[in-house]
Parts: sequence; C-alpha cells; structure tokens
Amino acid sequence: MKLLILVALFGLSLAQHNPNTKHGRTSIVHLFEWRWADIAEECERFLAPNGFGGVQISPPHESIVLNNPWRPWWERYQPISYNLCSRSGTENELRDMITRCNNVGVYIYVDAIINHMCGAGGGEGTHSNCGTYFSAGKKDFPSVPYSHWDFNDNKCKTGSGNIENYGDPYQVRDCRLVSLLDLALEKDYVRGKVADYMNNLTDMGVAGFRVDACKHMWPGDLSAVYGRLHNLNTNWFAKGSRPFIFQEVIDLGGESIKASEYFHLGRVTEFKYGAKLGGVIRKWNGEKLSYTKNWGEGWGFMPDDKALVFVDNHDNQRGHGAGGAAIVTFWDPRMHKMAVAYMLAHPYGVTRVMSSFRWNRNIVNGKDTNDWMGPPSHSDGSTKPVPINPDQTCGDGWVCEHRWRQIKNMVIFRNVVNGQPHSNWWDNQNNQVAFGRGNRGFIVFNNDDWNLDVTLNTGMPGGTYCDVISGQKDGDRCTGKQITVGGDGRAHFKISNQDEDPFVAIHADSKL
Ligand SMILES: *[C@@H]1O[C@H](CO)[C@@H](O)[C@H](O)[C@H]1NC(C)=O
Repeated sequence: MKLLILVALFGLSLAQHNPNTKHGRTSIVHLFEWRWADIAEECERFLAPNGFGGVQISPPHESIVLNNPWRPWWERYQPISYNLCSRSGTENELRDMITRCNNVGVYIYVDAIINHMCGAGGGEGTHSNCGTYFSAGKKDFPSVPYSHWDFNDNKCKTGSGNIENYGDPYQVRDCRLVSLLDLALEKDYVRGKVADYMNNLTDMGVAGFRVDACKHMWPGDLSAVYGRLHNLNTNWFAKGSRPFIFQEVIDLGGESIKASEYFHLGRVTEFKYGAKLGGVIRKWNGEKLSYTKNWGEGWGFMPDDKALVFVDNHDNQRGHGAGGAAIVTFWDPRMHKMAVAYMLAHPYGVTRVMSSFRWNRNIVNGKDTNDWMGPPSHSDGSTKPVPINPDQTCGDGWVCEHRWRQIKNMVIFRNVVNGQPHSNWWDNQNNQVAFGRGNRGFIVFNNDDWNLDVTLNTGMPGGTYCDVISGQKDGDRCTGKQITVGGDGRAHFKISNQDEDPFVAIHADSKL
C-alpha cells in the first residue's frame, strides 16, 4: 500500500514536467497576442499538418486597458479579474479554439499571471477588457473578489513597497514587481481563487500553463496552488494526466533566487540557452559553434528534463527580461533561422518556437524606445486578424516565424529524430559543425566566413535525401539541394558562406 502511494505521488509530480503533447509531436509555438479565432484556424490549417505539439497563448483573463502608452502588449500582464475576456477574444471564442485545436491534436498552454494584479497606479474605473470595475488605489477587484486583505503589502519591508534589491529573496517574493499589486499567495483564499481560474481553463481542455514571474512567488505557495489543479480533461487526455507546468524564472546566475528551487514543481524556462546560443551565432566574445560539442548541461544549463528552451521570447526579443543584445530574433532572420534550427536539431529540453508581431523598432543608445508597442491593431484598439498570403507567409505585421520553411521543417525534423541520441559530431574547430540524431537525421552548419566542403559520416542509411532548409520534399521531387548518402553512411556537403541559409538538414522522412 505504501509503495502504491509512493508510486502515485511520484507519478503525479513527474507528470507536471511532461508537456502532454500528442505522441510524436515535440515543439510548442508561442502565438504571441494572436486572437483565439486565428489560433483555431492555425491549428487546423497549419500546426496539426506540420506536427506542432502545442501553442502557448497570451493571457486569457480580463486585463487593464492602458492608454499611456497606447495599448502596450504588457497590459495583458496586469489582471483585473479572471473573467475570460481579453484582447484575443471572448470566452466562447476561447472555448471554441481549445476544442478545435485539441481535436486536431495541438494542445494549448495558458500564460498564467498569478503573482499580481494590475499596477498600483492603475487607477479606478472600468478601463478593463469587459468593462469590469476595479480600484487599484483601494486594491479592490470586486469581480474576483480580491480586497486589500489579499495583497502582500504588510509583508513587504521596503520603503517604496517595490522590489529594490534582487539580492534579498524576501523582497523579490513579498514586494511589488515594478509596482504590480502583489497577491498574498500564502492565503488559502487567494490560492483558491487562482486555482479556480486555472481549473476553469483545465476543465475547458488546456494541457498546461506557462506560469509568469515565478521568481516572485514562494515555491511552497506555488506547490499549494499546483496541488489543487484538476487532472486534464479526459475528452482529450489520458485519465490522471496532470497539467504541464513551465515556470518563468530568469536565472542567469548571480542572484539570490535559483531556478533549481522550482525544479520539483515543473519545468523552468532556461534563459541561459538563448543568451548563450545568440552569442555563439553572433560570434561574440570569441564564441565558436565548435564549442557547442557539449551543448546542454555541459554548458551549465539546468538538467535536460527540467528545461523549457527557446531562442527568444516575447520579453527578450524587445530588450526586456534577460539576454540583452545577444538574443537573435526575427529582426536578424538569417541568424535566427540558424539558431532555431540548432535548437530544434539538438536533443536538450522541451523546445518553444517564437511567433512574433512587428513593431516600429527604434533603438536609441541600446534601448528600444518602442519596446511597449502592442500587436497589429485597428484604431479602436482591437487586435487585427492574421491574414495568410498566397505564399503562406502572414500579412499585416504578423511575422509568423513558425511558418518560415526552414523553421517549420526543423519542427518536423525534431519529431522525426525524437528519442535518438546526439551522434556523429564533427567540427572544423571554428564555426563549421555537424551532428546527427542516430540514424534518423543529420544537420551541418557553416557559420564561418568561408565555404564548407567536406565529406562526413552521417550515420544515415544510404540513399538520396532532400535538404529541408533550401527546399523540401514535394511528392517524389526535392525543391532544394539533394544530398547523396553512400552505403557507408558518408555524404559530401558543400555550403557556401554566401548561401541564403548556410546550413543543410536531412532526415528519414526527407529521403527521396
Ligand atoms: C470558474 O468558473 C465558474 C463557472 O463559470 C465561475 O463561477 C467562477 O467564477 C470561475 N472562477 C474563476 C476564479 O475564474
């Protein structure tokens, strides 16, 4: 009996690290600020057919509406209530989207904002997505309801009430993050409201949560909240499945709070990953691709089974969060494609691909003065739909990196090589490297300023393969380069440093 209970408990905690993706699907895409109606369409027409495992959606709760600056993206990180009406759509549209995505095997992960409500200076009134009244000054959110009893101000010991010193874990957890009203998650009542919100979404069919600002919450409080979460909806998930939890903790080292404090609760965002990979791809500070032979834990990253990895996210692509100017984003498309391909080819971590909107980037003295700009929108502030062009790219300012051929095909590559070991490493001691994934896939990068011309052991069965970067298999044709692998597994690769994309990838399903 004791053993059975132990097994059950272990199973429970383990499951929160499992993304619950459909068998054979390995990557999540963040459709940042997309409308629910567009996500539903995207699941059916693009994500399911191309093997995407899931979507991280923007926060679905009711938020403050800000006019100074005008409708910034961060207003969605300032809850007013847990009503499910947001810039992305209504509760019915949310429910329809979750159902339709689940029905095609693409699962939904909610960005959950449970550390705080709106900013202390958020005012009083009905300037919220569905016109719900609140008073930031009185700390009154009657729609939840939360009152001034439900916030941490009595615990916070700083003069300003804000976090002043990141070296002090009490401040970081008990005081206000950039003036955001800090919920008292030690209270059973607050835990209950937060868990109810998350359970309403779980019951609707979501597969898990990206939990915002976890550094600013005590692990014990989070444990209490997660412990109250329902199992996933059995219309789509196996009985007893637990919500996938991935927690935003920015830990580049050197702070009082460590990512490792959260490992037992779920996965954690590994911010070192994109910061280091960006530096390598940019060749800053003498970094070279050849140094990535031991990429992953060998680079001091968190354990593989705890990491959620990404090249850039919605914060650090605009200079917020962590990683600084090293982060490679869609603004540097050639480097971005290389970095994302490296991530998707490499076995480490659960991978998340960013899908962005354009803004009027304006960098002055290293800072983007337009880092606040919200999604493409109409003059009344409503978010624009995502139009799909005849060439399958997106219009109206939606970047849709996940639709770029090179990135989409590497999402498929990762699925094809899933479970295979990192193998057949080669490098030129500079910025030309290659590695395989058992006998299922092989990738070669040339990030040097000269050509690559080399014969390598791919570990793949003999045959002709289509490079899924310069093109892709189209019936029995190849629209890109062809790579011939001999019966001995060896193949000749030529990659000019002038190529549009200086890398080549082949896999078992790209065999002609
Ligand atoms: C959860 O859903 C129920 C039923 O719609 C609703 O009454 C309740 O207020 C919701 N709770 C939260 C915290 O969103």
